[in-house]
Amino acid sequence: MRILEFERVSYQYASEDFDIVDQLSFSVESGAFHCVIGISGCGKSTIFRMTNGLLQPKCGTIRVGGIPITQQKNYCGYMPQRDLLFPWRTIGENLALPLEIRGGFSGKEKTELVEEALADVGLAGCRDKMPQELSGGMRQRAAFARTMLTGSDLLLLDEPFSALDFLTRISMQEWLLEQWRRHKKTILFITHDVEEAVFLSSSVLVVEKTPIRSLREIPVPMGKTRTRQDLANPEIVALREGLVDMLRKQVGG
Ligand SMILES: Nc1ncnc2c1ncn2[C@@H]1O[C@H](COP(=O)(O)OP(=O)(O)OP(=O)(O)O)[C@@H](O)[C@H]1O
Ligand SMILES: [Mg+2]
Repeated sequence: MRILEFERVSYQYASEDFDIVDQLSFSVESGAFHCVIGISGCGKSTIFRMTNGLLQPKCGTIRVGGIPITQQKNYCGYMPQRDLLFPWRTIGENLALPLEIRGGFSGKEKTELVEEALADVGLAGCRDKMPQELSGGMRQRAAFARTMLTGSDLLLLDEPFSALDFLTRISMQEWLLEQWRRHKKTILFITHDVEEAVFLSSSVLVVEKTPIRSLREIPVPMGKTRTRQDLANPEIVALREGLVDMLRKQVGG
């Protein structure tokens, strides 16, 4: 089943004289994990912001679960690249926000879910801190936990692990794969780290050109249960280098 569909979607920033996304069509199968890669400024976050409804396409239709997004609310969880947390709310209050939006949780349930989500990302004990008291990587993990609490089947994660140190990053990657398998989510995940893209994806979506007219889908031949050792497999190494070459070509124009 297709969970997300773009049908001839275009977008133009008011200050630009061209469509950065130009008649783009693609679809995502339910349960897929796609990393989206492409050079800086190519329009990856723009695609996420349209999917989330923050930007309105100039033309075309975006559907989630077969229904145009203009006719629904709360259909996806979105972790933006910047401006992650509300500075006037504690970490706990930030995480409780999606639960407040969903409604139907008692105060006790909210507290329990928030504490569980914080513990999951290694932030147990940070509930009463303010965002500005945390490091960049800790804030990123808190924002990530908040996105998971939306409970949405479709998650859009814009460079969620970019501020993390190497070891935290790889353990968060393993944790996310486990969540994906266990909760059967559909995940779109923007990253600049090609190895991360290969490790996480069922297939990688490559933005080869701006304006974006298509996404090139590169399947990753690894099962859902995978380990970092699989990255050393010659077939996977070749795939990774092929992706690096595609990005290099884009930089070269
Ligand atoms: N609000 C805006 N007004 C005008 N142009 C914008 C705006 N936001 C983004 N752009 C431009 O649109 C292009 C794509 O931006 P976008 O944020 O989608 O890129 P990206 O692929 O996510 O890049 P990065 O990897 O650096 O995050 C960039 O050239 C950017 O300058
Ligand atoms: Mg971006």
